[in-house]
Amino acid sequence: MTINQEIREKFIKFFTTGERKHKEIPSASLIPEHDPTVLFITAGMHPLIPYLMGEPHPLGKRLVDIQKSFRTDDIDEVGDLTHNTFFEMLGNWSLGDYFKKEAIAWSFEFLTGKEWLSYDPTRIYVSVFEGDADAPQDSESIKAWQDVFKRSGIQAEIGDAKKGVVGNSRIFPYPKSKNWWGPAGTTGPCGPDSEMFYDTGLAVHDENKYGKICHINCDCGRYFEVWNDVFMEFNKKADGKYEMLKQKNVDTGMGMERNTALTVWLRKLTAKPDPFLTDLFNKPRHYLLQLSGRSYEEPFARSVRIILDHSRAVVFLIGDGVEPGNKERGYIVRRLIRRAIRHGKLLGIHSDFMKDLADKIIVNYREFYPELKNNGEFIKNTLDTEEVKFRKLLDKGIRVIEKEKKLDGKLAFDLYQSFGFPPELTLEIASDKGIKIDMATYETEFKKHQELSRTATKGIFKGGLQDHSEKTTRLHTATHLLQQALRIILGNHVRQKGSHITADRLRFDFSHPNKMTEVEMAAVEQLVNEKIKENLKVNKATVEYNKAIADRALTVPGVKYPEKVTVYSVGKFSREVCGGPHVDFTGQLGQFKIKKEEAAGNLNRRIYAILS
Ligand code: ALA
Repeated sequence: MTINQEIREKFIKFFTTGERKHKEIPSASLIPEHDPTVLFITAGMHPLIPYLMGEPHPLGKRLVDIQKSFRTDDIDEVGDLTHNTFFEMLGNWSLGDYFKKEAIAWSFEFLTGKEWLSYDPTRIYVSVFEGDADAPQDSESIKAWQDVFKRSGIQAEIGDAKKGVVGNSRIFPYPKSKNWWGPAGTTGPCGPDSEMFYDTGLAVHDENKYGKICHINCDCGRYFEVWNDVFMEFNKKADGKYEMLKQKNVDTGMGMERNTALTVWLRKLTAKPDPFLTDLFNKPRHYLLQLSGRSYEEPFARSVRIILDHSRAVVFLIGDGVEPGNKERGYIVRRLIRRAIRHGKLLGIHSDFMKDLADKIIVNYREFYPELKNNGEFIKNTLDTEEVKFRKLLDKGIRVIEKEKKLDGKLAFDLYQSFGFPPELTLEIASDKGIKIDMATYETEFKKHQELSRTATKGIFKGGLQDHSEKTTRLHTATHLLQQALRIILGNHVRQKGSHITADRLRFDFSHPNKMTEVEMAAVEQLVNEKIKENLKVNKATVEYNKAIADRALTVPGVKYPEKVTVYSVGKFSREVCGGPHVDFTGQLGQFKIKKEEAAGNLNRRIYAILS
């Protein structure tokens, strides 16, 4: 039996037997059945939302499943050892039945029990929600964790992430950004969660990348996340407020890839946990390496991982009926296929391979997913047709791009417009080769042709074009104008507390104790728009940090800056230490509008604003 199969069987057995008595439900399709607002199922909770909200489930209040999930949020990070677009999540569910105490005790038992995953309990560390204005600290989970650790003879104390893992500290509180899950869309069931980590003892903590102190959530790789228990007792409403749900639910998600990788490593079959070196990927990996004549080592390992991730994702997506196309889901499938083929080229594969690779993936999974068995031929033929079409295009596109030193925006757009050459790929190839693209022209041309699915590039489809786009750059410059305008209108106590920009809007958190009045908001808006009209020049300079401070450049409180920093000034109006990028002149920004002003914690306010 393969290790992933062993984990599947154990998980289902654990939750369906003994006092636990869960009923197994099959994975839902990756295509949401009842929710037109999202393209894909991104977590096990998604298909179960009506039951989390209170509708009775036909199989009762305790369910267990292995749900297919697909996320594009981290698509640009795929290629490392921890990110996947498609993945499987093992989950147990309480729909208004048991709650934190039982969920935590069972998670611990499954992870550490000799019959089950048999992880060393002294290596398990957990995080809990630290509490804020919406919900209190999760003391119930803290107590539940202390009890289960105690039963294993481990004294588990509450730690402080800022101090790292010291003494007996084992339970670490974190804010909402880390320990709150959901809602899946903008509204719906959500709640505090508690994540479990395994201390691998591996990885050298790189201070520059991960911060001075290594802690369980610092991403350096030493603490390997294995499971997440979510306690869904809240409903987030359209006005951003939280109300209690009718019932208290448990939603847990244990990553199949991660736990398989960890188990394989613990059995000393690999040098570190690596999902791509497990039986989830062995067959397709062998095929790929044999075909390319490469080994699974840098500089090729990243491409191998991207191809394996993307090809598995498209096998499952096509298996659920998504065909490659120019819109929404189809566009995403197309993009994944094309990216896989391009990385095949980087490995030296110049002939069609997707169909045969898909075959190895289907063989791996068909026992667990009948849709792959039933649609096997369809999946392979669809991939083959798409690959033949794309190969012609790819060769042409690469030839055109490689000829250029600086890629004219119009030409980059024409590649898309005339040949259907994927915009993200143009950016990626150009960036690999160090070729600059004139993004302003590109964006203007692109805007004229919006037939490329808006949904596919907006929000749901993070990364790619949107991240590189002029839109975010413009919003970034607008954020500087906004901060200075707030300081002028409200006072110099205003400092940046947070900033987040998507292609569509900026979000700015700042220190200010009171709700802004209509008059103040109108004044801020007007001042920003005046500065846009003045078409101020944006200047960039690299200076010593001390000089920047002496020159009264604004910094973000609490951020540690290096000795040398970049200062962006907008005319004489604003000066900030910032990494950029920014527009050259404020005239490029358009009309600035505040959409919403609200509280962001006790002493801070938050503004959402757009440019049109
Ligand atoms: N829904 C939770 C997650 O995805 C379990 O992590």
